Amino acid sequence: MLNLTAEHVSVLVLHGPNLNLLGQREPGIYGSLTLAEINRLLEEEGKKLQANVFHTQSNHEGALVDAIHEALGQHQGILINAGAYTHTSVALRDALAAVNLPTVEVHLSNIYRREDFRHHSYIAPVAIGQISGFGAQSYLLGLQALVHHIRN
Ligand code: DQA
Repeated sequence: MLNLTAEHVSVLVLHGPNLNLLGQREPGIYGSLTLAEINRLLEEEGKKLQANVFHTQSNHEGALVDAIHEALGQHQGILINAGAYTHTSVALRDALAAVNLPTVEVHLSNIYRREDFRHHSYIAPVAIGQISGFGAQSYLLGLQALVHHIRN
């Protein structure tokens, strides 16, 4: 029998340090939406894309490494805003390379228009691609790109 419904994919959204403070944290740079509101938008977008979206946030590098390891066998892709660890963490990059799940890197702000130390990403070389500068929309565009990549 012909199955016309696309199979659901499962995606892990990882939010790194200080993103729990979104809404009150430097709103001129990161916008006024809270992390809970961004997660709700991602869930709604996930429904449209027939993707199950799971999310977690941690301020701790090791906890993020653990979450990446645990994604193996549970999820088909990872959407990550590693926050400041983007610019510092070999461990996160190695974890993503180790599990080898398709990964999209996102940033609310345009990291290339900001301080020099934000211009380098340890994550970018192990990601399919990066979306930076569109506020909460970066996450939604990233989810679309990731699900499209997984399906194709
Ligand atoms: C960020 C950019 C990083 O440079 C910064 O450390 C963050 C947030 C962003 O989403 O724009 O915490 O990843």
